[in-house]
Amino acid sequence: MVVTTKEFASFLKKKGFIYQSSEIYGGLAGLYDYGHLGTKVKRNFEDVWRKFFLTLNENYYEIDAAQIMHENVFEASGHLANFVDPVAKCSKCDFTERADHLIEDATKKRAEGLSPEQLTDIIKKNKLTCPQCKSTFQPVTIINMMFPVHAGVGTTHRAFLRPETAQSPYVNFKLQYEILRKKLPLGLGMIGKAFRNEISPRNLTLRQREFTQAELQIFFNPHKINEHSDFDSVKNYKLQTLLVTDRKKNKIVERTAAELVKLKLPTFYVYHLVKMQQFYLDELKIPHKKFRLYQLDDKEKAFYNKYHFDIEIDLTEHGFTEMGGLHYRTDHDLSGHQKVSKEKMEVLDEESGKKFIPHVLELSLGVDRSVYALLDVAYTDDKKRGNVVLQLQSKLTPFFCAVFPLVKNKENVVKKARDVYDSLKTCYSCLYDQASSVGRRYARADEMGVKYCITIDFDSLEDDSVTIRDRDTTKQERIKISELKDKLFTLYFK
Ligand code: GAP
Repeated sequence: MVVTTKEFASFLKKKGFIYQSSEIYGGLAGLYDYGHLGTKVKRNFEDVWRKFFLTLNENYYEIDAAQIMHENVFEASGHLANFVDPVAKCSKCDFTERADHLIEDATKKRAEGLSPEQLTDIIKKNKLTCPQCKSTFQPVTIINMMFPVHAGVGTTHRAFLRPETAQSPYVNFKLQYEILRKKLPLGLGMIGKAFRNEISPRNLTLRQREFTQAELQIFFNPHKINEHSDFDSVKNYKLQTLLVTDRKKNKIVERTAAELVKLKLPTFYVYHLVKMQQFYLDELKIPHKKFRLYQLDDKEKAFYNKYHFDIEIDLTEHGFTEMGGLHYRTDHDLSGHQKVSKEKMEVLDEESGKKFIPHVLELSLGVDRSVYALLDVAYTDDKKRGNVVLQLQSKLTPFFCAVFPLVKNKENVVKKARDVYDSLKTCYSCLYDQASSVGRRYARADEMGVKYCITIDFDSLEDDSVTIRDRDTTKQERIKISELKDKLFTLYFK
């Protein structure tokens, strides 16, 4: 059942998933907090990400790094010069908007990557005016999106809050490569915060000024870009692509991995395109029809990319929305860091005896956008039940199971329920609830996404059995307490 973003936002706040940060002071645009349930879903997503991406190769590792970074990092990466967004400012009032978004909203045509002059022309041609005061716009200008920081007191160092987690693995590369036995491909993954001074943050966590990314940087030998030892296992796998050449029809076209290689995309790149799709479809269970791999053209690609596909999910009210991207960044970043830091980033190719700077394939995902998508897809307004059912799968949902005593005023029923809860809580994310009627508790559990509710009733005192209710079917089953843990184990992996 489709809901509006407003209703969705109100549900997420009411239940303690996501809400505006610093709200008691009126909030700040583009900043959100995760409550007790939202935090659990976010952590669960991150765990699934770790299990999937960091096990793609035994030479992939996770690191954690500072969020404030040296100014020279961004001189080297090109962010100081190129990490800019176009601004459309009203000529009369204080209204400002990202110029390409203003145009896209009004014309429904993509405007990403156009120059300020082109954007100014389109705004004029389409006679776009300020939505607040109806005045015309000033010519489009650009602003750098990074947050500067003055670190220290007295003598201060100009630094920046990193605008992408990626730069941390890049500046860590040489040391990690030495420590990790000088082997390529080397994967350095990181889940962490990124900061961007977005011109017009909006749509809850979809466009924030502080957000979490999960990115895997794979450093590899560019001479081996047309090979991958495991490619045979995916060559017939069908990818849901929308290439630049498909845009006129605006239709997803299924292509096998082998077909994409024939279209001149490198094997190493296509292999990881498959892994990105498998992560969303198989691990997160995003419905096929809501997923696509969208190829960006030369104008739209990020300034550091040679090949760039966005990973997109079709969201209620927003349509296909970028969750992440597969970025072939070449040696752009490592060469930049070598030049500015004077530290050698080269490694030795044992086969040819020649030195080279590794290239980087970046598997970049937005954690907040992915969590938003999971909640959007899971949200079901069940009219028959009269409540929302959050159909998150077991490994993502905040609570896998809940234990209820049928009544709260019978000491022996409550004691038995507590015993069952105590035995489960160390194995599963488990909730205990004895407030209000069982019907009300089921409804509450549905809204939190609890997959199985276990009720201890009067019969339980006699037969040592409980009732398990399945969230999605509402079917109930009677089962011995002694078999409960094993039963839940089977259900968890179902
Ligand atoms: N390291 C590459 C990189 O940062 P990006 O496309 O700019 O690439 C990657 O960002 C992902 O981070 C996006 O696909 C999106 O999911 C997330 N992201 C970017 N800006 C965001 C914002 N303002 N709010 C929430 N998520 C954002």
